[in-house]
Amino acid sequence: MRKSSVKRSIRLFWFVGAIISLLTGCTKGQLGKNNGQEFRNGMVVCAYPEAAKAGLEVLQKGGTAVDAAIAVQFALAVTHPAAGNIGGGGFMVYRSAKGETNTLDYREMAPAAASANMYLDSAGNVIADKSLHTHQASGVPGSVDGLVEAHKKYGKLKWEDLVQPAINLAKNGFPLTEKLAANLNAMQQNFKKLNPGKNYYLKEGGWKAGDRMIQADLGATLELIRDHGRAGFYEGKVADELVAEMQSGNGLITKADLKNYHAVWRKAITGNYKEYKVITMPPPSSGGIALLQLLRSVEKYPLKRWGYNQDSTVQLMVEAERRVYADRSKYLGDPDFYKVPADSLLQPKYTDKRMKTFTWAKATPSSAVRPGSFVGYESDQTTHLTVVDKDGNAVSITTTLNGSFGSGIVVKGAGFLLNNEMDDFSAKPGTPNMYGLIGGKANAIQPGKRMLSSMTPAILEKNGKLFMVLGTPGGSTIITSVFQTILNVVEFDQTMQQAVTSKRFHHQWLPDDVEVEKDALDSTTTQKLQQKGYKISPHGPIGRVDAILKTKWGYYQGGADPRGDDTKLGW
Ligand code: DON
Repeated sequence: MRKSSVKRSIRLFWFVGAIISLLTGCTKGQLGKNNGQEFRNGMVVCAYPEAAKAGLEVLQKGGTAVDAAIAVQFALAVTHPAAGNIGGGGFMVYRSAKGETNTLDYREMAPAAASANMYLDSAGNVIADKSLHTHQASGVPGSVDGLVEAHKKYGKLKWEDLVQPAINLAKNGFPLTEKLAANLNAMQQNFKKLNPGKNYYLKEGGWKAGDRMIQADLGATLELIRDHGRAGFYEGKVADELVAEMQSGNGLITKADLKNYHAVWRKAITGNYKEYKVITMPPPSSGGIALLQLLRSVEKYPLKRWGYNQDSTVQLMVEAERRVYADRSKYLGDPDFYKVPADSLLQPKYTDKRMKTFTWAKATPSSAVRPGSFVGYESDQTTHLTVVDKDGNAVSITTTLNGSFGSGIVVKGAGFLLNNEMDDFSAKPGTPNMYGLIGGKANAIQPGKRMLSSMTPAILEKNGKLFMVLGTPGGSTIITSVFQTILNVVEFDQTMQQAVTSKRFHHQWLPDDVEVEKDALDSTTTQKLQQKGYKISPHGPIGRVDAILKTKWGYYQGGADPRGDDTKLGW
């Protein structure tokens, strides 16, 4: 056969193959290619297998992405107690199939009795652990109110049917993965110390993979939420138990705090990176503004040519991160209490100016970088879930208790863990919190104020169409993990799963070092960076990104982070 006719036959063969796989894919509701890993009708990616299953079932029953996300968050409160929660808070970024966007802030807020110096001793020093493992570490929980509000606006299935899967998991139990068993075992001493008497997280001899954990009290609390919605948590038996728990340990949350808590719909912040539009969370998250600043800072450089985690790529990204985190320390806080200069921070001219002090020859020392200034302006546990439904509505939720298992305090009788989100405030200007982040006035404690967050749920459009839905836990590393995952896809041509699995690095201005996961940088890259004065420090796993990508063929491709038990399911 001549060369041209061989080529023609190959093309014909490929074309027929593609048509067959498309047809079989459509009838089965999933694409044959890529081992059935791409889906047409919707997808859920989250931190625990049973929770992903609960979400998928809701989608298959005709629920919206928000319906599924609600079922997933409740199921995670049972199956992923380190972070999934009803005693914490979170953020949701939403994009409808038609392209309308919205965000829901159900972040915890400081109780009315909170005060700026509540974590300081008489000499003005921060009292270690007071904002972490005491009854005073908790902000007023926002998750239940947030999920109720999300359902009111974007839900289709009955509320009861979205809470029920979590009730079943709590009452009947579910099998522990090896990682969850290990996490629970690591916390045994803390659970004992913080909770007098018995509780279901304790196990004589320790937990092992395959054990079933039954959480009867949590199941009963979820039944009240199922039957009474918001009132099932913020009033009645659960509110009584929460306040009694507070009173048993000098905690601050009162009935009035619970009554006054309300989730807030906020306009999404958006920005462009090349042909992509990024839709993300406004303050009280620092994540959205910081992510857009980071993308802007690197947009003009040929990252694609340099390649993934090569020395120029890492150097540029680190220098952008250094400057953006310096801004975060000064300018970001709850917008209802502090005038956040969002527009100024997002001016392209401003990010250009910030990057002017960067030179290729050597690392800019963090001591030489201060938060920027503008004319006219004064003055390890969270979890992410990502859902797309059959109509193309997309939800990106990051929710948290802050530390792993929050404060470690279980509300007696109600059976859920309390957050230690108060540590995200700046207890004292310049003193780092548990993630090494520092802050000042913008993020000082005030009654009723929301503590600054790094959570960065995000949704991307490409040329006006849904492209990517993503987010991650990881404290201060959230912003840089989302930043890297986006670049991995749009610049380095990785699949969604590769982009999520890829090794990460992180810089946050202070401390002045580049934290790197094992094997993130090869030895030549590491040496080149060290020669320029970068301090490279090994770090354990960074982030647990859960993401969905819409391919140009219209299929959903998931990325579930192998660093955890994260699971992707589609149909
Ligand atoms: O809102 C924040 O930024 C933190 N409370 C998030 C904590 C977190 O991601 C812990 N996860 N590993």
